[in-house]
Amino acid sequence: MMHQDLSVNLKDLASKKLYRQRKSIQALKKGKIKINNRWVHNFSSNDYLGLTQNKIIKKSIIDGIKNYGNGSGASHLISGHYDIHDKVENLASESLGFDKGILFSSGYSANIGVIGALCDRNDVIFSDRLNHASLNEASLLSKSKFIRYNHLDLVHLEKALKNSYGKNSYGKRRLIISDAVFSMDGDLINLPAIIDLCEKYDAYLYVDDAHGYGVLGKNGQGILEHYYPELDLKPKQKKRIIYMFTLGKSVGISGAIVLANKNIVNYLIQKARTYIYTTASSPAISCGILTSLRIVKEGKSLRNNLLKSIHLLREKIENKLLLSNSITPIQPILINDNSETIKISEKLFEEGFYVPAIRPPTVPRGTSRLRISISALHEFKDILRLAELINLNTK
Ligand SMILES: Cc1ncc(COP(=O)(O)O)c(C=O)c1O
Repeated sequence: MMHQDLSVNLKDLASKKLYRQRKSIQALKKGKIKINNRWVHNFSSNDYLGLTQNKIIKKSIIDGIKNYGNGSGASHLISGHYDIHDKVENLASESLGFDKGILFSSGYSANIGVIGALCDRNDVIFSDRLNHASLNEASLLSKSKFIRYNHLDLVHLEKALKNSYGKNSYGKRRLIISDAVFSMDGDLINLPAIIDLCEKYDAYLYVDDAHGYGVLGKNGQGILEHYYPELDLKPKQKKRIIYMFTLGKSVGISGAIVLANKNIVNYLIQKARTYIYTTASSPAISCGILTSLRIVKEGKSLRNNLLKSIHLLREKIENKLLLSNSITPIQPILINDNSETIKISEKLFEEGFYVPAIRPPTVPRGTSRLRISISALHEFKDILRLAELINLNTK
């Protein structure tokens, strides 16, 4: 019977040190969380700018509840779409210079909905091997031909594109999909080079900037502003990009926005199933998102603080081989062995630092790691102490 089979599976996971436990947070304050009645420094959150607790954003959400109520009451295409949803989409598309935006309730549902709407069994998807699970799921669900290229290996990608193009071409549409900032390594996509490939091989790029928006670029406008500080991409380049960023990380709330050419967005409104067949996110939440998008843009001092902390941590880790090639708040410490990674994570917890152990299947086998996520709220003294503890435990 199913529940008995599952009990065997659960025991198997436990024996391989792959059984996951949730930690219930009881309270939180400036960079710290209370778990099991104990305060620990939180180095596990994607709240890179500390906006989950921002008072101005809280007030916008509360005012939003007063104006609109608690929930949207329906899906976007029935009667759950509000003027505040439009305002969020418009602000995002104006800020990044795209024609139009569409708001989803989560990054996961945006990825599934967009890729499923744009690609089917006649199309071909080229995907970085270390892309987020939701992008892989989306590609498989779309039934497109799914080609995975080696991580950041554009020679490999170009070879695959070349094979699909020209005389013996296959795939009606070619879509390259990639994280902008890789969620477990913190390294970056080479966006300009991929756009060149898109132009050369008549492909489009779907870029998931969950971890870059808010952090990268002088105004926090993410991977595009990182590579094009004036956001001055040529229209023919921009047409090839479908840009997605999530609202649950630096923006501090939840949801995702997809920006693209207006025909693409209008088509998504008609066809993205995870947009159509779900209750629209609460308009009050969008009131908070609108405020948060403005705060992100103005948040230069938050970003400067964050950058200083990132540099400090990297400078203080003695064994540089443990670090990845990351300029972002995602700073993995590669331990490789599952048990050893858990052991160090537990030791850090005893010392008052929560740094999660990340194991397969989230990362490839044999690459277990401590995933440090730095926030603008962390104090330099805590970064120094964390580096010291990691040095002690990885000697
Ligand atoms: C790269 C990436 N894409 C998408 C998602 C999913 O976004 P959401 O949490 O809004 O569903 C995440 C993480 O959660 C992510 O790291």
